[in-house]
Amino acid sequence: MGKGFFISKTLGIVGVIVGTGVVATIIALSVVYSQEKAKNLEVVNPHTTPSTAKDPWENYRLPDSLSPVSYNITLWPRLVVNASTGLYIFTGQSDVVFRCEKETDLILIHCNKLNLTLLSLTGLDGATAPTIKKSWLEVPTQFLVIQLNSNLMAGRQYELYTEFIGELADDLGGFYRSEYTEGTSPPVKKVVATTQMQPVDARKAFPCFDEPAMKAVFHMTLLHAHGTVALANGMNLVNVTVNGQDVTRTSFEPTPLMSTYLLAFVVSEFGFIQSPEGEKVLIRIWARKQAIAEGQGNYALEKTGPILEFFEKYYSSSYPLTKSDQIALPDFSAGAMENWGLITYRETALLFNPASSSNGDKEWIATVISHELAHMWFGNLVTMKWWNDLWLNEGFASYVSYLGADSAEPTWNVTDLIVLKEVHGAMSVDALASSHPLSAKEEDIVRPAQISELFDTITYSKTYLNTFQYSNTVYQDLWKHLQMAADSTPGLELPASVDDIMNRWILQMGFPVVTIDTATGSINQRHFLLDPDSVVDRPSPFNYEWIVPMKWIKNGNDQTPYWLQTETATHLPMKTSGSDWVLANTKVSGFFRVNYDSGNWDRLLTLLSTDHEAIPVINRAQIVDDAFNLARARTVNTTLALRTTLFLQREREYMPWQTANKNLGYFFLMFDRSDVYGPMQAYLNKQVTPLFNHFKTITADWTKIPEKHTDQYNQVNAISIACSTGVAGCEELTTGWFKDWMNTPENNMIHPNLRQTVYCSAIAAGGMEEWDFAWRMYKEASIASEADKLMYALACTRVPWLLNRYLNYCLDPEKIRKQDATFTIVYIAGNVVGQSLAWDFVRTNWDHLFNDYGGGSLSFARLIEGITRRFSSEFELKQLQQFIEENAEQGFGSATLAVDQALERTKANMKWVAENKKDILTWFTVNSA
Ligand SMILES: *[C@@H]1O[C@H](CO)[C@@H](O)[C@H](O)[C@H]1NC(C)=O
Ligand SMILES: *[C@@H]1O[C@H](CO)[C@@H](O)[C@H](O)[C@H]1NC(C)=O
Ligand SMILES: *[C@@H]1O[C@H](CO)[C@@H](O)[C@H](O)[C@H]1NC(C)=O
Ligand SMILES: *[C@@H]1O[C@H](CO)[C@@H](O)[C@H](O)[C@H]1NC(C)=O
Ligand SMILES: *[C@@H]1O[C@H](CO)[C@@H](O)[C@H](O)[C@H]1NC(C)=O
Ligand SMILES: *[C@@H]1O[C@H](CO)[C@@H](O)[C@H](O)[C@H]1NC(C)=O
Ligand SMILES: [Zn+2]
Repeated sequence: MGKGFFISKTLGIVGVIVGTGVVATIIALSVVYSQEKAKNLEVVNPHTTPSTAKDPWENYRLPDSLSPVSYNITLWPRLVVNASTGLYIFTGQSDVVFRCEKETDLILIHCNKLNLTLLSLTGLDGATAPTIKKSWLEVPTQFLVIQLNSNLMAGRQYELYTEFIGELADDLGGFYRSEYTEGTSPPVKKVVATTQMQPVDARKAFPCFDEPAMKAVFHMTLLHAHGTVALANGMNLVNVTVNGQDVTRTSFEPTPLMSTYLLAFVVSEFGFIQSPEGEKVLIRIWARKQAIAEGQGNYALEKTGPILEFFEKYYSSSYPLTKSDQIALPDFSAGAMENWGLITYRETALLFNPASSSNGDKEWIATVISHELAHMWFGNLVTMKWWNDLWLNEGFASYVSYLGADSAEPTWNVTDLIVLKEVHGAMSVDALASSHPLSAKEEDIVRPAQISELFDTITYSKTYLNTFQYSNTVYQDLWKHLQMAADSTPGLELPASVDDIMNRWILQMGFPVVTIDTATGSINQRHFLLDPDSVVDRPSPFNYEWIVPMKWIKNGNDQTPYWLQTETATHLPMKTSGSDWVLANTKVSGFFRVNYDSGNWDRLLTLLSTDHEAIPVINRAQIVDDAFNLARARTVNTTLALRTTLFLQREREYMPWQTANKNLGYFFLMFDRSDVYGPMQAYLNKQVTPLFNHFKTITADWTKIPEKHTDQYNQVNAISIACSTGVAGCEELTTGWFKDWMNTPENNMIHPNLRQTVYCSAIAAGGMEEWDFAWRMYKEASIASEADKLMYALACTRVPWLLNRYLNYCLDPEKIRKQDATFTIVYIAGNVVGQSLAWDFVRTNWDHLFNDYGGGSLSFARLIEGITRRFSSEFELKQLQQFIEENAEQGFGSATLAVDQALERTKANMKWVAENKKDILTWFTVNSA
């Protein structure tokens, strides 16, 4: 799916495998599902087929007796509420032509929450249709079950016709409605009918064979009120006024052979902009009329064409459709969704306003667009056979989204940021023993991915895409084609078959920590677990050994890469003497962590504090991340991890700062309510002061914005860390800017890059007046990214009653949209003052949240994670256990895994605090002096 919110953030693993001597690299991109993704899959695969199932309709999977050929669907959404029922509805008719593969007297077709009003079966090409004996909706498995009086004949085609009514609910799934207001005097409410089918909600819009391998051709027709416009996957062909009714009928070009989860249709009063006439592919950007009028779609329009061209070259395959519509929706659960030809987005992922969007917003837009466009081939043209291979879609799209974004914005060097944005997040999930449920479904594989840079060789992508276009694949197909590419790449020497290398990364969970002893040249690998006491009860066919591609540096010089294939080996070149230092996993080309003997650690740390630029910037970040994680795993002393932050006094680059900030974030969570807090603040104040002054200088006293993309990011770090640790002059700066804005609300002079942190700092320093002003600005914001910044900053206040009021707003969709409620609660929980308020709030309102907001929604697991993140005491553990018991009966739906992880994490935190608090307090006290 689209880069969900997170989602995005949790995908990705990169490993470079280097063939000796020749410039032939394979990048292994492994994808670990975000927890949200795992949830997603649990929804898809609620249970594997129970072996005790008596009747076919008790199975969740379709039998292989029927396969769809084409659909002819007409839907009519009513954008006005029916006053007597209080419901928004849609009505529809659907004809599905299917082929009988195996003789059967049973038709199973997915259908969920639809009221059928007519049902009939006809035979095609002279086939006689059996009569219907009995039909019903089987609710648990979401099937329409039709029992026949005689058999359908193998090889024959039939047509099933249905008429139905469904609710156009605001539940963000299937055919649903989104609302917004337009204009000011007075504001007018507008309703949009739109869709989100992935993974299993096409069946909520019309009866269908709702599995990804059940590809078919779709003929769509939409009925809609005059003055609205209808869109679908294919180009809108004709529209006619329906006789005697105030309704237009728009029909669409039939789709190519495609999966149901990629369908989309929208009826709205949106405006659009489009690419110039005469372009090969028509590109249109759709959004609220006001957003279009303000030019918020321009950036997306400007970049879509070039990114599409980039992918056409990259895949060596032209864009498969005649048009590309992209639409920004006010209510949308994921980040975006790659529906073929009609991509749907959250507004923040598509709309850009130079006057109020930051460089981070812009990068987000460029990468999300790129991600979704990458799916037009990989995912849509060639599709995984079943959801367990979704990593094939998502891992690859996540990786190439950076290449596409890089082609669109070459000065940003976004590919360098993969390590921060994808690898670190993926590693933190994958280092848990509870990572296992991710791969437990269907054929045992639902999580990480490995893909090779051999994709870069045009032959590869071309044969793979050509071979499998309009059909479905399993990961073995990919390895086979990668092997073919490897075999035909001169000079590429792999230590094993692609199959053997790659399966180790996808069929077993986790990844290794490699330990290098430079005193002897010995090198070993073992499964890295964040909690060394956790029990891995899942056997691995590879015994948790990997084939590890190792690039490394000695004294600043690149060395011949080395493949680590066994648990322990000796690689003599890694033996050093004197002041020699070794740095492994150069540029973080492999998905593993590195530990060294203490002598080499000391030499690396000395080097960092004298000449940190001798180490590549990505590795400066990696040293910090590895050290902190190894310390969490009790492999190295926590004080060693803290020592990796000493050089930050001299560091001006974004990646090391960002990594340290993120890792220290854990220390803040554990200690911001304890006596460690003071010395820790003092230490960070000391470390960040030179950075704050540096930016003050290069921005001419905060009047300019740095040129470099990553400097722009790091400026934000400088201000946020400086303000939160009380660096002199920081709070005055942010509150001054904010006051100016309060004085002239129509003229916000705060630079968009800095807004989120400035708002947060000023609201934290202020009281009700600041808060109420920000709330008003939030409600009036005409661009979603600005609203998001305010939504975040409103959670920064230190006034408890304001936080409580804000929490209560989360239950009122008129105040906080449902799609944003969990984020808001999590932001509040992130505030030390808001933590316990949020926890109480969630427990108090659990039933309401669970039933109206939770269930299958993607961000629900995030809620559990967010509100329990600080838990580190016996008392909190008890509360959590009690909460779990009290709600055991109703269950936790999509948050089940998150609840288990919260327990696991709380226990790990308790242990960590007990073991480390004293040393940490001493270390910060000594080093803040
Ligand atoms: C779809 O069905 C409608 C009537 O329900 C019919 O008029 C139309 O021709 C059909 N289109 C195709 C492509 O079969
Ligand atoms: C509202 O719903 C009722 C009950 O389904 C129906 O009879 C009525 O025609 C609907 N009204 C409109 C305006 O569609
Ligand atoms: C479908 O039928 C049920 C039961 O009669 C009813 O409660 C529901 O409102 C109907 N749905 C729609 C969209 O008409
Ligand atoms: C119908 O088509 C005409 C001509 O293609 C177009 O001008 C008009 O805006 C369309 N109307 C709707 C409601 O889409
Ligand atoms: C981007 O990367 C290139 C090549 O690694 C480097 O030469 C350039 O300085 C980088 N640009 C920025 C702005 O960091
Ligand atoms: C970690 O290092 C500190 C000081 O360097 C020392 O006091 C402490 O005992 C060490 N802890 C462990 C578990 O080795
Ligand atoms: Zn995706």
